[in-house]
Amino acid sequence: MNLILLGAPGAGKGTQAENICAHFHIPTISTGNMLREAVKNGTKLGLEAKAYMDAGKLVPDAVLVGMIQEKLKEPAYQNGFILDGFPRTVPQAEALDQMGVRIDTVLEIDVPDERIVARMAGRRVCEICGTSYHTEYRPPKTEGICDADGGRLVQRADDAPETVKARLEVYHTQTEPVKAYYAKQDKLSVVEGQEDIADTTRLTLQTLEGRS
Ligand code: AP5
Ligand code: ZN
Repeated sequence: MNLILLGAPGAGKGTQAENICAHFHIPTISTGNMLREAVKNGTKLGLEAKAYMDAGKLVPDAVLVGMIQEKLKEPAYQNGFILDGFPRTVPQAEALDQMGVRIDTVLEIDVPDERIVARMAGRRVCEICGTSYHTEYRPPKTEGICDADGGRLVQRADDAPETVKARLEVYHTQTEPVKAYYAKQDKLSVVEGQEDIADTTRLTLQTLEGRS
């Protein structure tokens, strides 16, 4: 299955990608994680992307399209993938079609903006593996430490309230049109993502079982 996850910042794409990956054994490609890794390593891509990310803006389409095109050639993704965070603009979706990449399903996780703000305030991410925890909704076993690898849990630079506001605005203006793009191709399914993590996982897996 070749799957795209759509949803506002903090809707739970990364969280559900983990569960879908565990259930269907399909690897995830997260453009946000790839970009954060590039920033951490101080690569040319990272240096270019950082200013956009810190401002809550999208990194230019050409950069992301080139990055995904290379990534999708890797052997790990030849039998299915979950795209988390791409495409985020209609030109990015068109680029995937032009590359001849087949997409089976596009799943939107729908969460109202008010919920997003609370989620972002409590999010903590592992410095090593990038896994998202939440102080209230998904606490680690030991406070401040990743369950998987003992990494330190920190706040993401772009989770400051004013940056979250900018990211939500970008989502509504630039990413929402991607929904219509895939609805026209009859590939879009929507799940309510405002309930707790386990409920959203149940709805997500049910929807995907129905479509696969
Ligand atoms: P990216 O990392 O993709 O950020 P995002 O889309 O804003 O998504 P998030 O990672 O913030 O949230 P999520 O939906 O994965 O939620 P999560 O599961 O963590 O992108 C970052 C930046 O990179 C962009 O701003 C842009 O600059 C750049 N970029 C990336 N891709 C790009 C592209 N294609 N084009 C251009 N630029 C690009 O959950 C959030 C929190 O809530 C967690 O704490 C979690 O534990 C908790 N939670 C999750 N589900 C629930 C639930 N059901 N109930 C309660 N809590 C929950
Ligand atoms: Zn970790």
